[in-house]
Amino acid sequence: MTVLVLGSGGREHALALACSRDPQVGQVHVAPGNPGTASFAVNHDVSPTDLPAVVDLARSIEADLVVVGPEAPLVAGVADALRAAGIPCFGPSAAAARLEGSKAFAKQVMADAGVPTAASCVCTELDQVAKVLDDFGAPHVVKDDGLAGGKGVVVTEDRGQALAHAQHCLEVGHRVVVEEFLDGPEVSLFAICDGERALPMQPAQDFKRVGNDGTGPNTGGMGAYTPLPWAPHDLVDQVSQQIIMPTLAQMQAQGTPFIGLLYAGLALTSTGPKVVEFNVRFGDPETEPLLSLLESPLASIMLAAAQADLSTIDGLRFRPEYAVGVVLASQGYPSAPITGRPITGLTSQDADVLHAGTRLDGDQLVASGGRVLVVLGHGETLAGARQEAYQNLSEIQLDGGFHRDDIAAAAAEQEALAGLASGNSSHETPRHATATPEEPSYRNNPSTN
Ligand code: AMP
Ligand code: GLY
Repeated sequence: MTVLVLGSGGREHALALACSRDPQVGQVHVAPGNPGTASFAVNHDVSPTDLPAVVDLARSIEADLVVVGPEAPLVAGVADALRAAGIPCFGPSAAAARLEGSKAFAKQVMADAGVPTAASCVCTELDQVAKVLDDFGAPHVVKDDGLAGGKGVVVTEDRGQALAHAQHCLEVGHRVVVEEFLDGPEVSLFAICDGERALPMQPAQDFKRVGNDGTGPNTGGMGAYTPLPWAPHDLVDQVSQQIIMPTLAQMQAQGTPFIGLLYAGLALTSTGPKVVEFNVRFGDPETEPLLSLLESPLASIMLAAAQADLSTIDGLRFRPEYAVGVVLASQGYPSAPITGRPITGLTSQDADVLHAGTRLDGDQLVASGGRVLVVLGHGETLAGARQEAYQNLSEIQLDGGFHRDDIAAAAAEQEALAGLASGNSSHETPRHATATPEEPSYRNNPSTN
């Protein structure tokens, strides 16, 4: 099988690597890819949002499957263009990608499907926003209805800041979704969907704030780990039954079946898991640790989903270990990352180092974005996986580069305490401890995503 992956970040590096491990896969191509993917796949200088160019490329390499990494090409209709050309695509149609592209659309689907989520109101006037903010009370959650490149959501105690964000959205002609604040630790749960059936992955958690202990501005994500030792043991079943399956059924009933990766961003509230957001693609950086543990043949499974038939696939198998991913970011990230600086100390073949924002300047690898690398570690315990990730990271140099020190730290601490309490050696990990937010200060801080 020949697979074409669209995108250029760490997520796409991880997707291409996982596809290359599938025994059914002969060749992996990536457009545009990065120096990391160039070490084992063929990169093509084609933009994922240039739909005719993507179709031409897929035809010319005789791709059996196209896997779409980022949301923008999906919202722009790349899956429709490929399917119209008879090329199987793992990714939703533009109509189904509205689950991420429009918060108001996602809210309507959830309401129609009876999926638990924050109470919300779609507003078109500032007066209406003000009234709903007061009805819900602080902390305030104000969302731009459209795709806003990660800048669309403000969570804040400050009513003035909430109103200012709403006014900005309204001024550019967007609707505003005001939501009730959901309290509880956040979990990312991904499901591979064929329009009707879903194969859920194990849960992961990412760390959105730039600084240790959940301080500073929001980012695309500074690290992630999986599995979550503290998550309820029936979380995946519960989310499948209450959230994923009803959403798929609703999407199918309204004539926009969802084929691709459904990303449920959840808050584990005192009254159960509730949806904070849906995304229509793999999350970044959760995908990097997740796929590093995946034993099932990813490309074959995504092809089955793209062909609307997951019926023969029993489930997804993950290596029974922990994986931790830590992001190395450029100085100045997220507001003004300094790019172009050399990165040294890594070998391009290292499967534990995913390239998120790199390029070659002659022979020299340099940073080309805010998030530069995602460095992984694995272990039988979270503490072991953390130690390996940070050890791997310490071997890499980027002038001014920085990372968070506390990725998976709270959960590893809890693991150690539970081990002590039960007299376990470090080989046993508590899997069903009480849920603890990794970033206790995060959820009550003003936040701009
Ligand atoms: P979104 O783009 O909808 O994922 O929101 C970005 C981030 O804002 C989420 O990952 C949450 O951390 C936070 N957030 C969004 N909606 C809510 C909510 N209703 N309650 C609390 N936090 C939220
Ligand atoms: N890790 C968050 C996202 O991919 O949206």
